[in-house]
Amino acid sequence: MLNQLQLLKRPRRNRKSEAVRALVQETHLTSKDFIAPFFLTEGKNIRAPITSLPGQFHLSRDTLHQEIDELLNLGINSLIFFPLINPKYKDATGSYATSEENHLLKTIRTIKESYPELCLFADVALDPFTSHGHDGLLSNSGEVLNDVTLPILAQMSVLYAEAGVDVIAPSDMMDGRVKFIREALDENRHHSVSIMSYSAKYASSFYGPFRDALKSAPSKGNKKSYQMNPANSQEAILEALLDEEEGADFLMVKPASLYLDIIHKIKEATLLPVAAYHVSGEYAMLKAASQNKWLDFDQALYESLISIKRAGADIIISYGAKEIAQIIKNS
Ligand code: PBG
Repeated sequence: MLNQLQLLKRPRRNRKSEAVRALVQETHLTSKDFIAPFFLTEGKNIRAPITSLPGQFHLSRDTLHQEIDELLNLGINSLIFFPLINPKYKDATGSYATSEENHLLKTIRTIKESYPELCLFADVALDPFTSHGHDGLLSNSGEVLNDVTLPILAQMSVLYAEAGVDVIAPSDMMDGRVKFIREALDENRHHSVSIMSYSAKYASSFYGPFRDALKSAPSKGNKKSYQMNPANSQEAILEALLDEEEGADFLMVKPASLYLDIIHKIKEATLLPVAAYHVSGEYAMLKAASQNKWLDFDQALYESLISIKRAGADIIISYGAKEIAQIIKNS
């Protein structure tokens, strides 16, 4: 047997039992940290599994209630909506986005009526509505146009606010959209409707399963002229501070797990709450590996999400919201 060394500092003492480990744990997850995403479709009695996002569904207005009840029981009160749009309604300008017939608006109205206590978020961007799958209008040469897209985003935001959305979440990355949306909301007496801006949104390959779910992948080109280069971090701070100046109430980083440094830097640069979007590809990777028994889904989900919170996120959007709330409840 080796003699015991005279070590004054032994960090392992603070890891010696479950009880001590719990006492010194620095970061905690609660169900209140999460926003649960939903993919909404028109029609009745639809709960169609999304192959690229195991455990997620396309839901029609009537089947959404059951999902919401489950979330409320687990302590999750915040939802974000994404619309699946029938290709027959898609066109070059995404006109269905600002149509009163828009099924998302109808769903939001019923949900707000049935559950006034919920905090409802709506993603604002044109890509689910445009035939070309870009987040803005296109010029004849295929350039994604900034300034002419802004009034449409503002109009969408006002319609969502009228339907009962509590937080508008612009995900398009056009310059100046937060200011434009804030002014339109205020002009229409929606002073209390908030803006959660996708501030540092990267041109990421991890949105694949989401685009598959909404059939919204760009038909031509990519989104690199508006979404950010994964190589950059200074630019993320610039984007975040601009959004703050323009009137955002929350700043968001997306994706999350690969961009923990960005979450941390933005958290240090602002006094606003910081959200992080644990995106479809991040969730689908965990599902795929766990289906192959290469890792344990619950443990990997917990580790991914607590790392995002440790990095500085106050709020996390995750397809695993319900699963993590269940894990937290059982722990
Ligand atoms: C719409 C939007 C996208 C995501 C959220 N809002 C797709 C994109 O920008 O191409 C991705 C979310 C995810 O992958 O979970 N602009």
